[in-house]
Amino acid sequence: MPESVNISSGVIGSGLYRAGELLAEKIVKSNLGPREVKFATASDSRPDITLRISDDNIDNIEGYYLEITEKIVRLEASSYIGLVWAIQTLLQILAAGPEIPCLVCHDRPRFSWRGMHLDVARHYFPVEFILKYLELLSLHKLNVFHWHLTDDQGWRLEIEKYPRLTEIGAWRTEANGCQYGGFYTRRDIKTVVNYAAKLGIRVIPEIDLPGHASALLAAYPEHSCTGEPVAIPNSWGIFDNTLCPSRDTTYRFIEHILDEVTEMFDSPFIHIGGDECPTGQWERHASCRELMARHNFDGFGDLQGIFHRRIAEILRTIGRRTIGWDEILTHDPPADAIIMCWRDSKFAIEALQKGHDVILSPTDHCYFDYYQAEEGEPKAIGGHLSLDKVYAFDPSPLSEIETGKILGGQANVWTEYMETTSKVEYMIIPRICALSEALWSPVKTKDRRKFQQKLPAHLKSLAETGYNYRALD
Ligand code: ACM
Repeated sequence: MPESVNISSGVIGSGLYRAGELLAEKIVKSNLGPREVKFATASDSRPDITLRISDDNIDNIEGYYLEITEKIVRLEASSYIGLVWAIQTLLQILAAGPEIPCLVCHDRPRFSWRGMHLDVARHYFPVEFILKYLELLSLHKLNVFHWHLTDDQGWRLEIEKYPRLTEIGAWRTEANGCQYGGFYTRRDIKTVVNYAAKLGIRVIPEIDLPGHASALLAAYPEHSCTGEPVAIPNSWGIFDNTLCPSRDTTYRFIEHILDEVTEMFDSPFIHIGGDECPTGQWERHASCRELMARHNFDGFGDLQGIFHRRIAEILRTIGRRTIGWDEILTHDPPADAIIMCWRDSKFAIEALQKGHDVILSPTDHCYFDYYQAEEGEPKAIGGHLSLDKVYAFDPSPLSEIETGKILGGQANVWTEYMETTSKVEYMIIPRICALSEALWSPVKTKDRRKFQQKLPAHLKSLAETGYNYRALD
């Protein structure tokens, strides 16, 4: 590579210009050679790299065209995000050097939802790590960051109207007596959302409701059925602390929180959880029992249906669409809800049959908190998910059903046993590489042998960039 590279430029501030800036920044930061990147002016007729936003030859909003000849490199896409993927491919080719092949490449993703989740409630990770995580996603052309911001063990999102959520809800006392916690300010969120957008990633916040709510209720206990004080647990599992579905005050409280969430996050989708919600407190609460009787419900779980439909309605009025874990299917879910399926594939089939859009993140292929081998691994939550199994993940095997409603897939990273950022990296790399191919490439072009051949060099380059990873078997 030459000492200096010329990139064609668009109008300052345009998507084209921003893509040029991204490429320039990545080239200079890399150890590819050039220490200087210039933007070619109109009079400069020979840029080394040209970027173009155009619909010619491109039939997918994230698709791109890449051409490398002896004289020029051409990147074309119909959108900024398509150019980001073209840039990532170019950088990978350059990094694999020293020979740079001449090539023509038309590329497009198989699925529009290619996600990675991160639980920051069980363990908190600083903003710098979240940005590093986003870099890793973008490098693998994953376009969704599902940020699990609240759970029993911590509330991690600053809400100005309800400061106790973070003053109290973000901190727990560990078994050894130490305080553990942390949270993201509005400014942090802005940093993350902007950084993600630059890298082609949409951030989906999750506010887990009405279960997994101990930290929220430690701060505002009046929103449980009992109103009694709640301690933030320092152990893992499912807890009885749930929001009360029978009081209007609960919904007003959540509405205020969601108003601030939607100010901070521009995503058209908001994840409202819905998983693993016990009904014990509702069963013992007269007002919940009355609500049950009024609706002639058979089981207390139906109160969860009421809860989610009301929350989805709130989101709809502020122009956002609800995503929920597959438990919300059981109790007449909001008609427009996207179902994120994590348990048995029968729930995916049911969701599709009921006409919902679906995202697949099944435990058996997508839970990166599972062990990576049968033995010799550091402590994990359980289960076993090998690299090969992730590579074999196919979110769309249900051919008899309307597969257009399968938006894509996602891996989940629950952090009960990931105390450090280095452990998170160990658990996700190299499985994230297999996920990337499973979600981007058509099944017929996947080639496990080739994937395995390419991995060692790719892992070496990730290690040089500062990522920890699990060594290949
Ligand atoms: C989940 O794993 N509880 C969605």
